[in-house]
Amino acid sequence: MAMIAKNCVDSKVTVVDLNQERIDSWNSDDLPIYEPGLLEVVKAARGRNLFFSTEIDQTIQDSDIIFISVNTPTKDYGSGKGRAADLRFVESCARNIAKVGGGNKIVVEKSTVPVRTAQMVKEILSESNNGFSYQVLSNPEFLAEGTAIADLENPDRVLIGGDQSKEGLEAIEKVVSLYNQWIDRENIITTNLWSSELSKLTANAFLAQRISSINAISALCEATGADVDEVANAIGTDSRIGPKFLKSSVGFGGSCFQKDILNLSYLCQHFGLPEVAEYWDQVVRMNDYQKDRFVQRIMDAMFNTVSGKKIAILGFAFKKDTNDARESPAIAVCSRLLEERAHLAIYDPQVPKDTILSSLRLDANDKRVSFHDCATDAANGTHAIALLTEWDEFKKLNLKEIYAEMEKPAHFFDGRNLIDPIEVQNAGFRLHRIGKG
Ligand code: UGA
Repeated sequence: MAMIAKNCVDSKVTVVDLNQERIDSWNSDDLPIYEPGLLEVVKAARGRNLFFSTEIDQTIQDSDIIFISVNTPTKDYGSGKGRAADLRFVESCARNIAKVGGGNKIVVEKSTVPVRTAQMVKEILSESNNGFSYQVLSNPEFLAEGTAIADLENPDRVLIGGDQSKEGLEAIEKVVSLYNQWIDRENIITTNLWSSELSKLTANAFLAQRISSINAISALCEATGADVDEVANAIGTDSRIGPKFLKSSVGFGGSCFQKDILNLSYLCQHFGLPEVAEYWDQVVRMNDYQKDRFVQRIMDAMFNTVSGKKIAILGFAFKKDTNDARESPAIAVCSRLLEERAHLAIYDPQVPKDTILSSLRLDANDKRVSFHDCATDAANGTHAIALLTEWDEFKKLNLKEIYAEMEKPAHFFDGRNLIDPIEVQNAGFRLHRIGKG
């Protein structure tokens, strides 16, 4: 929304939330999320045509276009538990809009939702007796965390779906004209509602599938002496395959990939397509296998036991340049190491200690984990380092100094193939990388 406000100076953009604390933080210089470049974009428009408020009903009343941008987590209760998307926040937004009503509105689904959610929104709006007319559109978001500003400034495409009726097409054109103020018209794709909703889930499923595919090959590389980066490079130069999203890793994380694939597979089950559901489920299974395999390699290298040994965890975020740890591979890796009775010395440049503790379901007094302000301090006195997030600062570690203060043999498990292998080995470490023998 900040990017729309920055580029569409003639439109007033008001972001509303029930949570006063969050809105206060959006109105300060201490934004609730860490995203490089975001503060500058917010500051460029805040107070001019960008506002943050808790006045939900008034804002609904005053607006022509309403973007529903709420959480759609995986359901953790009842039918579809662990797979289906929990749509209660989308539903309560739709009910609120129906309650307030007022004139002619375009209601846009920005949240990631299962295909045909717009039908539910339409049904709720149609029951409103506040005498208003509406069109429901789908405009999924494709930005990635850590690169959000660049992705929004210069997206590969913007997707807008709506009814193919005269009114639907007019509503689509209104939203197109917003984006068109900074994005070329040929990069704005318009479709019917269901294609747009389904394209979002499909894009994430395809991206995650690429990572699981290359991670599957990484296991074979380790067994055969092939090098996964060489294989990725060799296949990525085929323009039909392409070079991006072929970086083998300890596994993908984040709030989207797993959630969206599970949701896609749940939809397939629902529509009577169990084989299709199983096909996509395998992408998640391969990701779990990759995280397990990483821990198994640590165990194998450390004489089959990590009990009582201290391991430094470098990076907890699901990727660099974010403080988000949702579904981070670090959660599974650390949990398994704790089950094996290891002690963990954790350092992440951005993820707060409380987030790490709650992700691992530990209380603050748990003696098996300690938190550190830098990588060197975390590694002090440990038997091994497990690098789990590709933060740039880890490329500049003083490896000789770190090695000197560790138990021997000192192991370095590089879960992102980030560090120069020659430097790690010259410092004295036993190095273990993904997809390399
Ligand atoms: C993902 C999609 O990339 C966005 O297009 C989408 O809009 C977003 O989900 C969403 O649905 O909101 P995000 O989860 O923020 O974005 O981050 P990604 O860059 O896709 O990374 C996801 C995970 O895959 C990370 O853990 C990353 O380290 C891992 N990854 C990525 C790899 O292991 N290898 C790669 O080659 C690329």
